Amino acid sequence: MRPFLLAVALSALGFGVYLAAGEAPLKSAPRDQTAIMMQAKLKGLHAMAEGLVRKDFSGIEQAGEALAALCAGDDWQHHGDPVYEDYRDQLRRSALKVMELARAQNLEGATYGYMGLMSSCVDCHTHCRDVLKIAETAPVLRPIP
Ligand code: HEC
Repeated sequence: MRPFLLAVALSALGFGVYLAAGEAPLKSAPRDQTAIMMQAKLKGLHAMAEGLVRKDFSGIEQAGEALAALCAGDDWQHHGDPVYEDYRDQLRRSALKVMELARAQNLEGATYGYMGLMSSCVDCHTHCRDVLKIAETAPVLRPIP
């Protein structure tokens, strides 16, 4: 898929999640580097869930590898906050753990690891929203076209 189409598809996916969750979206006005990274993470998370429900170990492994690689890069800023950085590392460790468990064909372990991984997404977002205050508080909901 062409990068532009991929970006459009990922934006639509992220927006759908906001509506489904009925939650205040995190600040996303400038489509900056972080927003693009986050959309990629969401895609990785979906791919991991799909691999788990299909019992597709190589799919789970690939998703874990992709998520871990996203966390390892310098392009994901840590806002100079050590707690934020710690959440990012936690996400990376969880992704590597799920990857190893998939390699060992341990579906239950990988499912449990996936839940831990997802809580690091939620925990960091909570930290950003409530502590760092870098997220908007008012929900911006629009109908899906
Ligand atoms: C270390 C902290 C941290 C972790 C861990 C984290 N996020 Fe985020 N996330 C953020 C921040 C900060 C933003 C707001 C980015 C911005 O300015 O748009 C954000 C925004 C988002 C958005 C909205 C992006 C947009 O289009 O504006 C999505 C979707 C998202 N994250 C998904 C995830 C998923 C899925 C995971 C776990 C696999 C995850 N995030 C883990 C910090 C984190």
